[in-house]
Amino acid sequence: METKNIIKICEVSEKDVHDVTKIENDSFAYPWSVEIFCDIVNDNNQYFWKLEINSEIAGYLIFQIQRVEVHVANIAISSKFRKQGFARLLLTECMKYGLTQHAVIINLEVNENNSAAIFLYKSLNFRIIGKSEKYYENNDNALILSRNLK
Ligand SMILES: CC(C)(COP(=O)(O)OP(=O)(O)OC[C@H]1O[C@@H](n2cnc3c(N)ncnc32)[C@H](O)[C@@H]1OP(=O)(O)O)[C@@H](O)C(=O)NCCC(=O)NCCS
Repeated sequence: METKNIIKICEVSEKDVHDVTKIENDSFAYPWSVEIFCDIVNDNNQYFWKLEINSEIAGYLIFQIQRVEVHVANIAISSKFRKQGFARLLLTECMKYGLTQHAVIINLEVNENNSAAIFLYKSLNFRIIGKSEKYYENNDNALILSRNLK
């Protein structure tokens, strides 16, 4: 018998930080620390969402909304859940939420060497609007991507 996955998006709490940090460590060469994630959980100016599949944390998204702009600060999906549309789902829900908060635009930075992420954002109709030289700790450049929310 086929069983259906239960997919849920909700706020990260401190008890989730261990699992989030594990995904972060597996995803980035210069990962954010447990302390950074705990600070974000307790920061009312940042949204920290997790995507759960059958109660397991499959990925997370961190963003801010400042006036009319949604800014994505971090997103990662656990390797075993990649390429199944879950990053797109998180970003789509974030964009819908931004609209409810009267935002009109969404911006983010992505490492110019991160082709998977660039493909993801392009699949969501983001376009490149600029470049930040030596944006990352290892001096890699960032592309600045943007799209209107409507
Ligand atoms: C980038 C990342 C978040 C994508 O997550 P994901 O859940 O696998 O992405 P999705 O399944 O939602 O993919 C949506 C689209 O992105 C593109 N995409 C995603 N992964 C890709 C890959 N490895 N190669 C090429 N295109 C890819 C595809 O266009 C895909 O659409 P399609 O499946 O209809 O062709 C994930 O690979 C990840 O966590 N990477 C490490 C952390 C990271 O780089 N975060 C981004 C920081 S800016």
